[in-house]
Amino acid sequence: MLSEFQKTLLQSVKAFQSTQLVKNKYENVLQHLDSGIILFDSEGVLTFVNVEMAKLMELPRQSLIGCNLLQMLRHPHLSRYLKRKVIRIYRETFLYGKKFHELVDEYGRNWLITITYGDQMDGDFLLSVKDVSDYKRIEQTAYHNDKLAMLGKISAAIAHEIRNPLTSIRGFIQLLRPHLIQLGRDEYARIILAEIDRANDIIHEFLNSSKPSAPLKSVIDIPTLLGEVVLLTESEALMKNCEIVLSLPEDSSMTVSIDTKQIKQVLLNIIKNAMEAIEEMDAEHRGMIDISAHSEGELVYITIRDNGNGMDQNLMNRLFDPFFTTKEKGTGLGLSVSYRIIKNHRGHISVDSTKGIGTVFEITLPMVDSKSAVVGASQ
Ligand SMILES: Nc1ncnc2c1ncn2[C@@H]1O[C@H](COP(=O)(O)OP(=O)(O)OP(=O)(O)O)[C@@H](O)[C@H]1O
Ligand SMILES: [Mg+2]
Repeated sequence: MLSEFQKTLLQSVKAFQSTQLVKNKYENVLQHLDSGIILFDSEGVLTFVNVEMAKLMELPRQSLIGCNLLQMLRHPHLSRYLKRKVIRIYRETFLYGKKFHELVDEYGRNWLITITYGDQMDGDFLLSVKDVSDYKRIEQTAYHNDKLAMLGKISAAIAHEIRNPLTSIRGFIQLLRPHLIQLGRDEYARIILAEIDRANDIIHEFLNSSKPSAPLKSVIDIPTLLGEVVLLTESEALMKNCEIVLSLPEDSSMTVSIDTKQIKQVLLNIIKNAMEAIEEMDAEHRGMIDISAHSEGELVYITIRDNGNGMDQNLMNRLFDPFFTTKEKGTGLGLSVSYRIIKNHRGHISVDSTKGIGTVFEITLPMVDSKSAVVGASQ
């Protein structure tokens, strides 16, 4: 039988062991936290440093335990960069009572340093360091997007307002035209009117592209759509010495639910670009624009291939950027608007090109079941 004393001793040992277990558990958690942690006691002696902190300071943990701040600063392996930062944090904490410090290191990473002391710490000083680069990046992206959205709204408002004075100028130039003709300066009026029309076109396209217009969908067969587009462009192509060839697979159903006007605009933009690329070649060059379509799985692929002047990689990278143009009279909005339209239709647009040989544009659109689509369209 155990005496009363032995029982009490056994209980105390058990209690000590369980406290020790809990302590080890928490210490283990602190050791492997993804933030750096360092603890100074009320005498200013470093009593705890976790793995992450030692890694950040590039010093062995054991060489830090038991040091005071001065000894730590004199550590032979502490980098000069860190020494300067530690002194700065010390000054700002004790002179200005600052508890949060933000640092950007030599690799551009952002760090948040938090100091906790006072009653809640029983005289100890806890310093934690956290890598907040990802949060910073998100914050900056959000700020950038906000700025872009704001800029977009302002530009759209300005563009809209510029149209009114342009209309007045256009009207007055037309009134002045007979006088200019008398002076033998009809050419001036013609140029002014053409330039005003160009400015209006740019504004019109800009407003169209900045408006996130939702597609007004209806069901159509791709061969019908392509046939209509070819009909619209054929005569202009002929004048520019190029031929448009439409190749479609026989008896294949390719039904899509699209905003026909918008998708037509995309196809016309690409064909217009193709014709302009062909014009860049020498006069004897016989232009060819091949348009084809096929379906695969649930997608329809429309390909527009030209043998125009082509593009290098550099140009291709900027192709869909708004206002990017290599043409004297281009607005650089054709493809950026097209890109948006295709994206709004949950489709995809890609390009492949070789300088001096030609370019291929490929548009992918999701198909709809032709039978259920007709029912859907008539509802
Ligand atoms: N088929 C093509 N072949 C060669 N270059 C092309 C082709 N399509 C587009 N590009 C290049 O991409 C640029 C951007 O085209 P985009 O249609 O966006 O504007 P743009 O044609 O210059 O002007 P806009 O369409 O407003 O008249 C063109 O200036 C041209 O350099
Ligand atoms: Mg264009």
